[in-house]
Amino acid sequence: MSEIKNICCIGAGYVGGPTMAVIAAQCPHLKVTVVDINAERIDRWNAEDLDELPIYEPGLKEVVGKARGKNLFFSTEVDRAIDEAEMIFISVNTPTKTYGKGKGQAADLKFIELCARDIARVAREDKIVVEKSTLPVRTASALKEILQNTGKGVHFEVLSNPEFLAEGTAINDLLHADRVLIGGDDTASGKKAKDQLSAIYENWIPKERILQTNVWSSELSKLVANAFLAQRVSSINSISALCEKTDANIGEVARAIGYDSRIGPKFLQASVGFGGSCFQKDILNLVYIARSFGLEEVADYWEQVILINNYQRNRFVDKMITSMYNTVAGKKILLLGWAFKKDTNDTRESAAIYVADALIEERASLVIYDPKVSEKRILQDLDALGTRSPEENRKALTVIQDPVLASEQSHAIAILTEWDEFKTLDWESVYKKMLKPAFVFDGRRILDTEQMEAIGFSCYTIGQ
Ligand code: NAD
Ligand code: UGA
Repeated sequence: MSEIKNICCIGAGYVGGPTMAVIAAQCPHLKVTVVDINAERIDRWNAEDLDELPIYEPGLKEVVGKARGKNLFFSTEVDRAIDEAEMIFISVNTPTKTYGKGKGQAADLKFIELCARDIARVAREDKIVVEKSTLPVRTASALKEILQNTGKGVHFEVLSNPEFLAEGTAINDLLHADRVLIGGDDTASGKKAKDQLSAIYENWIPKERILQTNVWSSELSKLVANAFLAQRVSSINSISALCEKTDANIGEVARAIGYDSRIGPKFLQASVGFGGSCFQKDILNLVYIARSFGLEEVADYWEQVILINNYQRNRFVDKMITSMYNTVAGKKILLLGWAFKKDTNDTRESAAIYVADALIEERASLVIYDPKVSEKRILQDLDALGTRSPEENRKALTVIQDPVLASEQSHAIAILTEWDEFKTLDWESVYKKMLKPAFVFDGRRILDTEQMEAIGFSCYTIGQ
């Protein structure tokens, strides 16, 4: 394999965009080209005004601004980028299948396969193909099969290099990764390819944090890491329900257990439920894989993490309804936050979508505010559930820009994303504008319950 000078990444999404921007900024000697079939997305990556980038992520526009046009390029010319690159990252989406065998659980690998076929068709010289997308264990063997049957005598080395960044902190996570994982074959060419990828990361990541494994361990570790993280959230959320029955406080319990260095303090924040594009999809995938090997108990064990998450979202809605005298029909309810967590414009699998949908079923009249999510996105998310017609969704909600103003004559407010600005909202003014009793349902535990009650609110905080 020749020296790596040009790398390309197929898929300019939440992973491909930020990851390649950081690689380009840290490795000025490499030319990095990010390609996508979505022309609108590429146009936005190339927008002169860096506030127009398709992804909101703290620190992203600075990194893109530093490298774009120098050694970082965004393009729709997929074939050309494949042809030029010695190393190709595949970072396309791998959603849960919505059809056929494994529907609702298995990962849909059609986008991955298309990439492999593109690479097989275009490549004229040896290449390293890097799985950046999260993939079921043993996907690399399918990729290899497609790549090895071109009949063109081109050698492909397939590596697994899963990404562990979290949205909202992506740039920091990429710059200061806890670890970089590289899986590959233990053959001479496999080892060389792993070292070549490692050399790229070594430009800014200490070598002892770059782990090399076989391909299958690497693929599986990614699913397992997400399953463990989500399991912590479901574990603490399950205990939040018990706290509400016993006068224990989930914040105090989380603090008390998190001080145990074996447990640790992170990922113990009780919430209205985890969202995001990956936790649910990756656990479902793990469950599917376990079941397909006949490991029923293993599958049931991990599936419970998802069931508790669904329970937590439903529990929140039930609490809203019972608190408001068992009916929200015709009541104006202000939802604060739509993104699945703060500091991102991503709404995939956000708890807010499910809470809003359930409240609309109960005929509430919703008013929605999120600092980074557009009205178009909110409506698309609800329409995608298919619970009712798009026209009915448009009648049931209004998207607003000024939450204080919008609180006028409202019955309740629900906090669904932990945006910092909600902590410092002018709650005194909000209280004055609302109908009484003025209900606040804090699904993110960001408000001081005592202070809110001192203002006059009737305040429910998850887990206490
Ligand atoms: P995304 O949907 O934001 O981006 C994927 C992009 O791939 C889209 O823009 C799509 O148009 C493009 N694409 C699909 N097929 C293509 C093809 N054949 N040729 C060219 N472009 C194509 O997805 P994402 O959030 O960036 O996730 C990508 C992968 O990374 C997934 O496997 C995901 O599980 C994994 N991952 C995501 C995160 C995260 O925080 N979002 C973190 C770690 C890993
Ligand atoms: C997660 C992982 O943290 C990343 O390591 C991984 O790379 C990524 O999935 C992926 O594979 O896509 P992400 O989904 O972007 O990252 O965000 P997280 O910070 O993990 O949050 C996920 C959800 O859990 C959010 O809805 C968040 O609000 C919720 N959460 C998180 C809690 O409710 N409580 C917590 O204590 C932590």
